[in-house]
Amino acid sequence: MGRSHLLPSAILKAMFLALFAMWILPEPALAKHARVTRHYKFNIEMKNVRRLCQTKSIVTVNGQFPGPRIIAREGDRLLIKVVNHVKYNVTLHWHGVRQLRSGWADGPAYITQCPIQTGQSYVYNFTVTGQRGTLFWHAHISWLRATLYGPIVILPKRHASYPFPQPFKEVPMIFGEWWKADTEKIINQALQTGAAPNISDAFTINGLPGPLYNCSAKDTFKLKVKPGKTYLLRMINAALNDELFFSIANHTLTVVETDAVYVKPIKTKVVLITPGQTTNVLLKAKHKSPNASFLIAARPYATGPASFDNTTTAGVLEYEQPNNANKNKKLPLLKPALPKFNDTNFAMQFSKKIRSLATAKFPAKVPRKVDRRFFFTVGLGLSPCPQNQTCQGPNNTMLAASINNVSFAQPNIALLQAHFFNKSKGVYTTDFPANPPFKFNYTGTPPSNIMVSSGTRAVALPFNASVEVVMQDTSIIGAESHPLHLHGFNFFVVGQGFGNFDPSKDPAKFNLVDPAERNTVGVPSGGWVAIRFLADNPGAWFMHCHLEVHTSWGLKMAWIVNDGKGPKQKLPPPPSDLPKC
Ligand code: C2O
Repeated sequence: MGRSHLLPSAILKAMFLALFAMWILPEPALAKHARVTRHYKFNIEMKNVRRLCQTKSIVTVNGQFPGPRIIAREGDRLLIKVVNHVKYNVTLHWHGVRQLRSGWADGPAYITQCPIQTGQSYVYNFTVTGQRGTLFWHAHISWLRATLYGPIVILPKRHASYPFPQPFKEVPMIFGEWWKADTEKIINQALQTGAAPNISDAFTINGLPGPLYNCSAKDTFKLKVKPGKTYLLRMINAALNDELFFSIANHTLTVVETDAVYVKPIKTKVVLITPGQTTNVLLKAKHKSPNASFLIAARPYATGPASFDNTTTAGVLEYEQPNNANKNKKLPLLKPALPKFNDTNFAMQFSKKIRSLATAKFPAKVPRKVDRRFFFTVGLGLSPCPQNQTCQGPNNTMLAASINNVSFAQPNIALLQAHFFNKSKGVYTTDFPANPPFKFNYTGTPPSNIMVSSGTRAVALPFNASVEVVMQDTSIIGAESHPLHLHGFNFFVVGQGFGNFDPSKDPAKFNLVDPAERNTVGVPSGGWVAIRFLADNPGAWFMHCHLEVHTSWGLKMAWIVNDGKGPKQKLPPPPSDLPKC
């Protein structure tokens, strides 16, 4: 943890607590009532890391992989000083943090800031308001998030408890995706040729691929538990391009929180977690130490037309054995059953089970009226090959992706700067289409022309507008589940279904009582999802598919939320160290 200052009594208390918790939260001095400021220093530096029998130089924070854990309490302020010592431009994003009136700290490159260049630094300054649970941070430029990521743990306010039994220990489990080759080279080459980028070589749990890969048995995540105790697993999917099914052999999990919002508890053997989603589950250890160990496994849920990394990352759940019984015995290792890689019915059912608590203490503030309605098609497409070049997409084209047929073109200064200084001319336009350019059978036979258009187009919203977005998957090139992520807001998932959205029938079935409140939701493969959010946060907010390959291809857009009239409804000016382009 960063430079948090401990008083001697706090140290004693901390040591005491350490007996009970896997990690503890040092309480800075004078923290009794006040919210506190927590300082972190993130040096971006290269580090040699060996995985799958090969050593590779990767971009890290402070030489750690996965990166350091950020711990805060609800209400705390975070000051994270990022110093860039590598040759790449870098930005970091605090995925899921609402960034109320602190859009300058959000992090997506060319949306809220210019990148931090080599030798430069930037202090991300924000307060965690009204959120508690698990989130994560990751690089938000090119594919650097392949190795630049780490957990964010937001504990409830002091003396506030969880709406579920207090766990004995809390364990972050962050899933990643590993390439033997240099991921910057992979994506740069793919974007030049128009072909799909190479698939990964492994998935990882806390940076470790596990025993099902060559030379990786020693790189296995182990979870040691005591019989009868309850563990809170803080699961994060930081993989680039793959949704994951997760299961632990012979154990049932209870989902209690998603995307840092408590949910009605769901018992399940299998969890589905898309890139960009976080899920807290309770694991209740069996009452007596069984004579076995249990595999913890995750592998992709994949629906798209392209090939994917069909490997399985695994860790091991081990029980403490009474008086070292079984100590030298090799216990059998039981394996979990996971759904088929393309089990879209499981995905839909699982997603539908997630419901807000919707209690007096944790209400679901679903917008009931809608000021602005949008219907977005999301999916793949093609763009023309540049002149005097040959391309490796279908029929000498380049693979692309779009929302309402607009493939987002990255500007060369940040949208938020252009917006704040009233200099949007030549940077972006606010004519992003509210509907697709023409109607077709979105989930049926694709139209003959599947070329996308390109542009830096945004939607401008008045402060406090309530917004409904129906996101419709298309079957262009192939139907596929798209985990759509919205910056700056949580949204409510009010409806979802297969096939084409029917505006005359489907809205009547919307759940406005206890819908899931999240920052990332899977648009079902060959289906649609409807979300609502209140535009109560002034700024420029990115929305994109959290499959990084689709973001690279343009499946992204931005919302510009204008200032309101009140003093607390305006975006403050940028900090003086905001990087320049
Ligand atoms: Cu985790 Cu814009 O993303």
